Amino acid sequence: MAHWVSLALLATVVLCTLATPTGSHLDTRASGAFSPPYYPAPNGGWASNWAEAYQKAHNIVSNMTLAEKVNITTGTGMFMGPCAGHTGSVTRFGIPNLCLHDSPLGVRNTDHNTAFPPGITVGATFDKSLMYERGVGLGEEARGKGVNVLLGPAVGPTGRKPRGGRNWEGFGFDPTLQAIGAAETIKGMQSTGTIACVKHFVGNEQEMHRMSSVVTQGYSSNIDDRTLHELYLWPFAESVRAEVGSVMIAYNDVNKSACSQNSKLINGILKDELGFQGFVMTDWLAHLGGVSSTLAGLDMDMPGDGAIPLSGASYWGPELSRSILNGTVPVARLNDMVTRILATWFKMGQDEDYPLPNFSGNTADETGPIYPGALISPIGTVNQYVNVQGNHNITARAVARDAITLLKNEGDILPLRRNDSLKIFGTDAGPDPQGLNSCADKGCNRGVLTMGWGSGTSKLPYLITPKDAIAEVSPAAEFFLTAKFPPFLNVNDDDIAIVFINSDSGENFLTVEGNPGDRTVSGLHAWHNGDDLVKAAAEKFSQIIVIIHTVGPIILEEWIDLDPVKAVLIAHLPGQEAGHSLTDILFGDYSPSGHLPYTIPYQESNYPSSVGLLQQPFGQIQDDYTENLYIDYRHFLKEDITPRYPFGHGLSYTTFELSEPSLSIVTLIENEYPPSPPARGPTPSYPSTIPPASEAAWPPNFPRIWRYIYPYLDNPAKDAAVANSTKKYPYPEGYSTIPKPPPRAGGGEGGNPALWDIAFSVDITVTNTGERPGRAVAQLYVELPDSLGDTPKRQLRQFEKTRILEPGESESLALEVTRKDVSIWDGVVQDWKSVVGGEGVRVYVGESVLDLRVRCEVGGACETL
Ligand code: NOJ
Repeated sequence: MAHWVSLALLATVVLCTLATPTGSHLDTRASGAFSPPYYPAPNGGWASNWAEAYQKAHNIVSNMTLAEKVNITTGTGMFMGPCAGHTGSVTRFGIPNLCLHDSPLGVRNTDHNTAFPPGITVGATFDKSLMYERGVGLGEEARGKGVNVLLGPAVGPTGRKPRGGRNWEGFGFDPTLQAIGAAETIKGMQSTGTIACVKHFVGNEQEMHRMSSVVTQGYSSNIDDRTLHELYLWPFAESVRAEVGSVMIAYNDVNKSACSQNSKLINGILKDELGFQGFVMTDWLAHLGGVSSTLAGLDMDMPGDGAIPLSGASYWGPELSRSILNGTVPVARLNDMVTRILATWFKMGQDEDYPLPNFSGNTADETGPIYPGALISPIGTVNQYVNVQGNHNITARAVARDAITLLKNEGDILPLRRNDSLKIFGTDAGPDPQGLNSCADKGCNRGVLTMGWGSGTSKLPYLITPKDAIAEVSPAAEFFLTAKFPPFLNVNDDDIAIVFINSDSGENFLTVEGNPGDRTVSGLHAWHNGDDLVKAAAEKFSQIIVIIHTVGPIILEEWIDLDPVKAVLIAHLPGQEAGHSLTDILFGDYSPSGHLPYTIPYQESNYPSSVGLLQQPFGQIQDDYTENLYIDYRHFLKEDITPRYPFGHGLSYTTFELSEPSLSIVTLIENEYPPSPPARGPTPSYPSTIPPASEAAWPPNFPRIWRYIYPYLDNPAKDAAVANSTKKYPYPEGYSTIPKPPPRAGGGEGGNPALWDIAFSVDITVTNTGERPGRAVAQLYVELPDSLGDTPKRQLRQFEKTRILEPGESESLALEVTRKDVSIWDGVVQDWKSVVGGEGVRVYVGESVLDLRVRCEVGGACETL
């Protein structure tokens, strides 16, 4: 982590001298963005599903001392244990140090784990069951290693910026795809007792300048209320509805207020409007202020360090104790923070037989310092090498396989026959020549690209490369695993070339081949001159298949229309089962059934100029979301720009017909706005008196670890003495301790429960009309009437995937559309507005956003198109 910090600072300084890359847009207007105050922080515990867990938490919190309470909220400091972060323990009540650890695709930096495919690959499956199943696998592995809170899934970024470094950690460039991916993952993970953490809340759409440095302040994502609700908040709302246990705030500001202390975002939107019952933590070192963040609704700081990491100083810890004793922070706020954390712990059943960490994310050695961040630390066993993989390789392979997206297949060159004469090109087909996991956090692009880089990674326990898997099926295949096309090569007429290319990106603390997380240098082009490799192959071969491993959209124009390029597959980021998942498809054991979780444009200038990367040497970048609702396909449709491949596109080896559509109204939309939400249940109550100063005093003969963050004060009585003085903390404007009336859009987890009333159900029959077995995805897009104002022409709101259908076989699918799905956010009324009776709403079902087969008018008929 020390390494992490210094690299981040260094990267920031270096970047200041870089030119803004193509497609960038530096908005120097003084942005009028403003984040209004929202106080006080709403208490958790009023949702009936959480009542029992809150009751258990209340029983304990009622008996805790001030220091014990603070200990639950504050990280113990960087490198103060095996995980990315830890809270303090309260042994008196059997509460251990909670282990918070990455990543969204597997347990990071350990051994005997599964490296599942990341979010973007999961999104491309459009398969809810696989999303859930992978979530279960992630949860089981986290639990098996003793991770209490697994830091995923990631739904921010949402893919607003195609070059953004961490888009691949999320499920795709659409709020519904993100929402369903996240909700299924969370339900799967938490079914095992692991607490999920949905992140990064919110507007973390580019990597560069996400954090402050000595000369810059983390950028401000300036997002209007409607865009926030309809795009960026949407997946978080569904995550809350799925009862996610924790939320990680983002590094950046939103509307000029840092996410870690943005009262409107945390108190107002997350806790009041979305009714979030779990706890809110910072991203690592995103904590910028003690009292300000506490009042704004933050519940946990991670990893605990303050302005100077590894110094032992914190904005909370002893400072939080002090702020309670001197009367600055209401005791009720601290009680709510602790109750939220413990209620989540109880709700997931972590009070019963939950393993302690048995691994170290800091070292692969068996023994080592227990607190590597302390200069002098006890030494002990830190790695027990527990194998948690179970049979998760099956799920990992199924996800990677069912995500593979066939863009083009001229003359049905695919599937290959086992005796085809194959010549394979590109480093991306092989292993990392320097060895498996040879670079930390995947901060290099060598061999097949299985995931991006940064904290969203895990080590590969093993790797089946495409080369390994192709050689198993086709022993005569020849491999030329170089970035350059070999100069001398004998090519026969019936030879088929398979060319592997890739495009990588990652997190800002590492720069890979000049790309500081975001794809600044590579742009949306293949790395390592991949375009040249394909073109060189096209000069020699008459039949070429291109396989692409990519973090996101990639420009194909230099070669896609060349005559020899017969087939193109996007294999996304496949994780450990890269090879087998691919040969499953290449040789026809399965038909491809993945679909693009984003649009592929002809050129980068097809995107709105406001979604380019922003760089600025000093001050704070104002990133104005002027394209508002129009990102990815929403923009292409609005501007009537034909993409190279539309969102949702994906061919199969067979064909499907969508027939017999019918739409039935399930719950009639009787009014434009939903009915009033139900009253909230009670929240735990505690005495509001300031505890005795002695509760924050150092226990006698306490064995301190240097730089470990404790809750204790040297002279707590002195702090308590100022509680009644006239000198008061300068509370933020709008600060109040009087609870606000519940927001009309709230009332349940995720928002007003009526928003999830099923408004319509569309039934459709999918028939395999081709000659091979395969799976189809029915994608449902809504078009809202003009009476609701300017809305995107199509919005994905639901999807279902069939089982494997044999030729001639059919399956009926029911696609449910909620009231929220056909609503817009009315910023004036602060509620979701729809149309009475669904009048004028159109529903389309198809195999991509541009391949719509069925149209239904609500209240009218359905027709096939
Ligand atoms: C920073 C990353 O932004 C976040 O996603 C991760 O969970 C933490 N570091 C902890 O490693």
